[in-house]
Order: sequence, then structure tokens, then C-alpha cells
Amino acid sequence: MKQQIIMKLLTGMAGLGIALGAVTAHASPEKDRQEMIKYYTDKYPNVKLEDYVYGALAFDADSKAQYDAIMEFPPFDSQVEAGRKMWETPFKNGKTYASCLPNGGKQIAGNYPMFDEAKGKVVTLQDAINDCRTANGEEALKVNDMKTMGQLTAYMRTLSDGMLMNVKVEGPKAMAAYTDGKKTFFSRKGQLNFACASCHVQNAGVRLRSELISPAVGHAVHWPVFRGGDNLVTLQQRYQGCFQQVRAVSPPQGGTTMNNLEYFHSSLSNGMPMKASVFSK
Ligand code: HEC
Repeated sequence: MKQQIIMKLLTGMAGLGIALGAVTAHASPEKDRQEMIKYYTDKYPNVKLEDYVYGALAFDADSKAQYDAIMEFPPFDSQVEAGRKMWETPFKNGKTYASCLPNGGKQIAGNYPMFDEAKGKVVTLQDAINDCRTANGEEALKVNDMKTMGQLTAYMRTLSDGMLMNVKVEGPKAMAAYTDGKKTFFSRKGQLNFACASCHVQNAGVRLRSELISPAVGHAVHWPVFRGGDNLVTLQQRYQGCFQQVRAVSPPQGGTTMNNLEYFHSSLSNGMPMKASVFSK
């Protein structure tokens, strides 16, 4: 069974070499993004680019209709509400997240991940939240703890709904981090020897077992997702799941490899509107 699926994916990858070469040969993030979009839109001329923000649902009208129905009364509202309480609860010193993040924490999520020149590394939105905590004498939250950081960001990202993704890659150090993330995205790994790109570029729109595979463009704007109702999944949590799917050892969430991957991966969605806390099949 498994073997059949893999064979199906491999045979679907005829264009692989060309596409990977085209994307990796260029050094400009904007060019990378445009080329990846061209790859998808040439292959699927009937799927509108603006619908890529719905992930795999863009390729499946029935599932999209189910999604719309569920989103009328999202089953995960109580989790987002718990995140709102966390967001509004002042630190022991009386300060709040809103008082220490730029613009009161509103309409900023699309600027992350960003490259912090002073620190010499990529900073994710979760890092910014933790910096805010530690600067105010609170302990950092574990980035992979869905009950704390997960719920908090599920709410916090709703404050940026509609903002256009705006990840900037400026200067040689930022470019090096971007290139490192890109390398991770295109490197084959695990016992199954798959790269992120093998599935989310070459096989986007193709069914793996019962699941349609989504395109990488549009991924980073709709986070977190709730699968199976109220099972909260953040972006790096999902990366980890995908690493494990190909039986690769996942790099730690919040570490440099994951953050650089998120930096590259998020820039692919530049210009697309953000929508936090969504349902995913
Ligand atoms: C063997 C194929 C495969 C590989 C390799 C793979 N994924 Fe996935 N990925 C899936 C499937 C299947 C899903 C669930 C269906 C969907 O939404 O695409 C998924 C879902 C996702 C999602 C959530 C999409 C959404 O809209 O909810 C993200 C983000 C993602 N993968 C990123 C990655 C990254 C980054 C890598 C590389 C570390 C990777 N994937 C490697 C198959 C794969």
C-alpha cells in the first residue's frame, strides 16, 4: 500500500529536475516566488492564485464548501478565546504584550519571520513574543507548547487578519538565512528521500492517501490551523509532522534550521492576505 503511494508520487515527479533547477539557480527571493507561482499556475491554469491561501482546499470545491460551513461557527473558538485571555492578562510588572510589541501587536504578524541584524538571526513571531516576556521579567514559553504559545498565537495572529504577508530579505546575512531555509526546503531527506518541494511543489494538487497536497505558496498566511475540530497545529508543528511523514528526524522547533525554513517558506506567500485560526481537513 505504502509502496504504491510512493510509486505514484515518484511517477508524478517527471518535471522535478527542471523545476528544482529553475527555482534554486536564482538568488533573489522575489524571483524564487515568481518562478514557483509560475510553476503552479502553468500546471493548474484554472485554480486562481488568490485561492492558494486556502491550501489544498483551492483544488477541491467540495472540501472548500465544507470548510466554509464549519467556519461559520468554528469549533475551536474556545481555544482562541483562551489565547485572548492570555494576551490580555498583564505581566507581573503591569505591562502587556500590546505595550511591548510594535504597533500594539496589531497588523504585524505578516512582517515575521524577520531578520534581526543586531542578533544576527531570524526572529519568528513566537520569538518576538518571548522577547517581550523575558524583557518584562517573565519566563519564555515553550514554542511547541500548544496550550500556551499555541493558543496565545492563535489569538494574537487574528489581530493581523487581512494584513499582506511582507517578509523582507535584505542584506547578506538575511540572504544567507533565507538560502539556508531554501536548502532545507529542497533537500531530500528521511528514509523516503523526499524534500518538502517533492510534495508541495511537484505534487501540489495530487492526492496522497486521502489527502490532497497543498501548494507551498499560500501556506504561511493561514496559521495556526485546527485539524479535527480543536486540535491546534502551528506552522512549525506542521513542519515537524511533515518531516516525520517521510521518516526523517525533525530539527527542533524554534531552532535555527526551522526558523530559517519558516523564513524562506513564509516569503513565498508575500503579498497574500493573512487569516489566522482556520479549520483544516
Ligand atoms: C510525502 C509528502 C510530503 C512531504 C515530503 C512534506 N509534506 Fe507537508 N504536507 C503533506 C500532506 C499530505 C499535508 C496535508 C495536506 C495539505 O494540506 O497539504 C501536508 C501539509 C503541510 C502543511 C499544512 C498545509 C495547510 O494548508 O494546512 C505545511 C505548512 C507543510 N505541509 C509544509 C511542509 C514542509 C515545510 C515540508 C518539508 C519539511 C513538508 N511539508 C514536507 C505532505 C508532505
